[in-house]
Amino acid sequence: KVADLKGLKQGQLRLAVITTAKYFIPRLLGPFCQLYPGIEISLQVTNHEGILERMTNNMDDLYIMSQVPEHLDVSYQQFLENPLVVLAPINHPLSKEKNIPIQRLADEPFIMREPGSGTRRAVQQLFDQHGVTVKVKLELGSNEAIKHAIAGGLGISVLSRHTLLPDTGDLTILDVENFPIKRDWYMVYPSGKQLSIVARTYFEYLLDAAKQIVEQTVVSSSDKHEESGIN
Ligand code: PGA
Repeated sequence: KVADLKGLKQGQLRLAVITTAKYFIPRLLGPFCQLYPGIEISLQVTNHEGILERMTNNMDDLYIMSQVPEHLDVSYQQFLENPLVVLAPINHPLSKEKNIPIQRLADEPFIMREPGSGTRRAVQQLFDQHGVTVKVKLELGSNEAIKHAIAGGLGISVLSRHTLLPDTGDLTILDVENFPIKRDWYMVYPSGKQLSIVARTYFEYLLDAAKQIVEQTVVSSSDKHEESGIN
């Protein structure tokens, strides 16, 4: 299949990815562009609702998201886990505790993603299931801004573990019951759409890269005799 593309000097790849994938996808574009230097790439980063809107308007070749849309006819493929974890400043009193009851989070000031965010929806669903009402002190439309707000002592939050790449900095993951929230990343495209050869090549490239990352994580965590935290 790679050979098919060798002759292809030019092509376009339009990607739209949810906010958590921006910690991961751009890094993998480097090697892809080196393999196929003639391909021009555009990458849009937006929240879950933004992806749905772009998909409805058929604006991109491939979409990366954590929740496959229920009301659109799409083809999809899971490629990596995207767990959501509870984050606090590194010196937080709860940071040494184990199995913190989820109800305990109601006592902490909470920083919430904006409406339209898939992270927010997943967090809200879990809290609703357990009858937990958090005190939302601040609403922020950016994972990065939320990390800084946590570090600044404004509160705790729930974000994708991938937002901690390349390192946790001055944050820590709290060991709260019912966390992490299990989520996955999927590559998605409208079922009726014939993928271009460029998009298909990228699709396979990403599947392969994800597989290697999973293998590396397994190897490095068994090397260290501990569970790999972030990779
Ligand atoms: P978000 O994407 O930016 O919409 O929160 C993350 C997700 O849906 O898991």
